[in-house]
Amino acid sequence: MTALEKSESLRNRKNGRPISALTAYDYPTARLLDEAGVDLLLVGDSLGMVVLGFPDTTSVTLDHMIHHTAAVARAKPKALLVADLPIHTYDTPEQALANAKRLVEVGAEAIKLEGGIRQADKIRAIVEAGIPVVGHLGMLPQRVVEEGGYRKKGKTPEQAEFILKGAQAIIDAGVCAIVLESVVPETAASLTQTLSVPTIGIGCGQHTCDGEIAVITDLVGSFPWFVPPFAIPEADVATAVRDATGRYISRITDHARNSG
Ligand code: KIV
Ligand code: NA
Repeated sequence: MTALEKSESLRNRKNGRPISALTAYDYPTARLLDEAGVDLLLVGDSLGMVVLGFPDTTSVTLDHMIHHTAAVARAKPKALLVADLPIHTYDTPEQALANAKRLVEVGAEAIKLEGGIRQADKIRAIVEAGIPVVGHLGMLPQRVVEEGGYRKKGKTPEQAEFILKGAQAIIDAGVCAIVLESVVPETAASLTQTLSVPTIGIGCGQHTCDGEIAVITDLVGSFPWFVPPFAIPEADVATAVRDATGRYISRITDHARNSG
């Protein structure tokens, strides 16, 4: 399937089977997740935290994203391959389009960027060039420094209305789906009912959206130093790695040198 066909089939999941999405930042992970049958792979700028060791996503550059998007693309996933535009790479429509094209050149099939009304013109520029765009509303991690932390969104009717207005603006601009992050479950469910494109939730409660996305390290338990409260780990890779490493060290050190 072409990128446009994949993004149209994602859009059509509005009233179909729920969408399963995961982040991936490297070739083997992308291959494993794709072989397992996930619908969408996101090279998220969460890369900054869970792979590159930065405190948040605000240190991620376009070059980081290009490097990791290229690695994921080498897995030739059947899943739609979405890449995040990192902070300050889409300050104008021209810049947004130029940088989206650079991610597409290395294999991204769709682009994701954060924000509502103020991003509509950037989204329109990218979509009009034939590149599918996924939106991202609710908690916007690229604004975590200004906001002073990660907070739940859509708690009051005014906040819910603000997200709805943003969603309508980016749907008009052409997004094929919208990630909702840390929106309280009631608001996420009512937005999902109202909006014409699929919502993909993270931190919005279970079964409130048209699908869910998770950060792969949260799912497999490979980044134990920070686990968001909403994460539901399905494996404990950190323990497996520590144990394997311990056994490896013992294998080497528990025996006297064989002098032959
Ligand atoms: O970067 C990321 O991992 C994301 C998801 C949390 C949606 O944007
Ligand atoms: Na992101």
